[in-house]
Amino acid sequence: MISANIEGKVVVITGGASGIGYAAARLFGGCGASVVLNDIADEEVLNDAASRLRQDGVEVTYVRADIGIADDVARTIDTAAQTYGRLDYLICNAGVSATSKPIPLPDLDAVTDDMWDAILRVNLLGPFRLARAAAPYLKNSRGAIVSTSSAAAFTLSGSSIAYAASKAALVKLTRDLAIALGPEVRVNAVAPGFIKTPWTARFKPEWEKRGVENTTLKKAGQPEDVAELMLYLCAGAAFMTGQTLIIDGGVL
Ligand SMILES: NC(=O)c1ccc[n+]([C@@H]2O[C@H](COP(=O)([O-])OP(=O)(O)OC[C@H]3O[C@@H](n4cnc5c(N)ncnc54)[C@H](OP(=O)(O)O)[C@@H]3O)[C@@H](O)[C@H]2O)c1
Repeated sequence: MISANIEGKVVVITGGASGIGYAAARLFGGCGASVVLNDIADEEVLNDAASRLRQDGVEVTYVRADIGIADDVARTIDTAAQTYGRLDYLICNAGVSATSKPIPLPDLDAVTDDMWDAILRVNLLGPFRLARAAAPYLKNSRGAIVSTSSAAAFTLSGSSIAYAASKAALVKLTRDLAIALGPEVRVNAVAPGFIKTPWTARFKPEWEKRGVENTTLKKAGQPEDVAELMLYLCAGAAFMTGQTLIIDGGVL
């Protein structure tokens, strides 16, 4: 596990109550940052996640908010500003697939307009609104943004054609936000392949089997693998911006 000294820094992590977001909260918090945990999950789930982080010595505040809603985005960033008086890192990690099972690419009829609306609102408009709201604070602290795209933006098909397109658009948003917010703020993204989280646990076991067989490393990724890359992109990577790094075990 890599480490960094980010004592005194403040990080907002969306979708932080579970999976990759929770692993990032644990890693950033363990390295000394104060964590603002955003998630749409039930109050109980959020409270439980925050308690577990506190037991690990993490300074954490949580905000129950939907990043697909403009006012909730503002409330999330305001929580960091009001609680800690600054913001150094923004992790735009929350995402939705809007389907309980993967939709094969040729099945265009299964992809409804409502799915497109939900997916684009959370996976694309959400990170844009978060970046816009956080920009003044991040410029002030010369901070960094990392968004969670997906290997589906490049190679894998992902849970639907709409999901893959939203994550590909996030790659371009990352590039353009880097230009828009530079030189003060660096903006990068990670693009995970198959990672073992509650999200992928919802899929049939064959999906995990296929996900593993498709990799050079012959294993599924862990949320902590992605969290490490996020930490590197925030606390290191001083000459990198506008990039999306694929972390997929070497998909063949
Ligand atoms: N796991 C993978 O293999 C994989 C691969 C590529 C990319 N990703 C991306 O990685 C990110 C995190 O996924 P994960 O696997 O860690 O999933 P996860 O374990 O399900 O965690 C995602 C969290 O985000 C929350 N969330 C959903 N919609 C939200 C919203 N509108 N506002 C705030 N929070 C919201 C979820 O709450 P609820 O559970 O209550 O909905 C959940 O707590 C997503 O963007 C996903 O697209 C994952």
